[in-house]
Amino acid sequence: MNKVLVSLLLTLGITGLAQAAGNAENAQGKVVVCGACHGADGNSAAPNFPKLAGQGERYLLKQLNDIKSGARPIVEMTGLLDNMSDQDLEDISAYYASQKMSVGAADPKLVERGGELFRGGKLAEGMPACIGCHGPSGAGLDAAGFPQLGGQHATYIAKQLTDFREGNRTNDGDSMIMRSIAAKLSNKDMEAVSSFIQGLH
Ligand code: HEC
Ligand code: HEC
Repeated sequence: MNKVLVSLLLTLGITGLAQAAGNAENAQGKVVVCGACHGADGNSAAPNFPKLAGQGERYLLKQLNDIKSGARPIVEMTGLLDNMSDQDLEDISAYYASQKMSVGAADPKLVERGGELFRGGKLAEGMPACIGCHGPSGAGLDAAGFPQLGGQHATYIAKQLTDFREGNRTNDGDSMIMRSIAAKLSNKDMEAVSSFIQGLH
């Protein structure tokens, strides 16, 4: 067999294993309590509760582990994950990943500035464009742990960017990717890019 084919088969095999970990159907009973804030299908109504529908499975699992361990403190979710097993968290991640994120609308007054930041970054200040990791349509790249942003509530996005900048969210790894990006964003920048993201799909 030639080398390219072997490595392709290996890649497919590994991907298949990773996806088989969570079973969306087994999550039904486990996500009832989450629906009160995040919506039954993961499309939350309140703008401070993130939409989980359509979010990457790998990213979701990482956040659930971080929330459970306290690496990402969320007071509203205190104790909720304490009695959940690794399998529970995998099933829940598979469930929300299999749903579809709804899209909101961008504020017409902010969309231009927001789009410039999302697509172009602030190169003069060394801040890369968001599309480099989160993709042109904001779909993210789950294999790399880059979350979907497109359609997410602007209020939630702006809070995350503020939390990264102020050091209240620190679970972006040793590379501090999001903390260093948020450090270059003013409040006005955050408002604009968050509004743009809410309408992005
Ligand atoms: C009382 C409301 C509430 C309940 C119930 C709740 N959450 Fe949350 N959840 C939140 C809030 C608020 C945040 C965002 C906090 C912040 O601003 O960082 C959040 C964040 C998350 C995130 C991170 C999303 C992202 O995009 O990074 C995940 C995943 C999550 N919740 C899953 C769950 C699951 C699974 C359950 C049920 C077992 C649940 N939540 C129950 C309020 C709730
Ligand atoms: C070099 C890659 C990279 C670039 C460029 C990047 N991000 Fe991220 N972003 C990440 C990663 C990785 C995470 C997940 C961190 C974690 O695991 O908690 C993330 C998380 C986020 C989150 C949290 C999502 C959620 O559901 O809680 C927001 C909001 C975000 N990024 C916005 C942006 C914006 C806006 C830009 C452009 C100004 C940007 N990112 C540029 C890699 C990147």
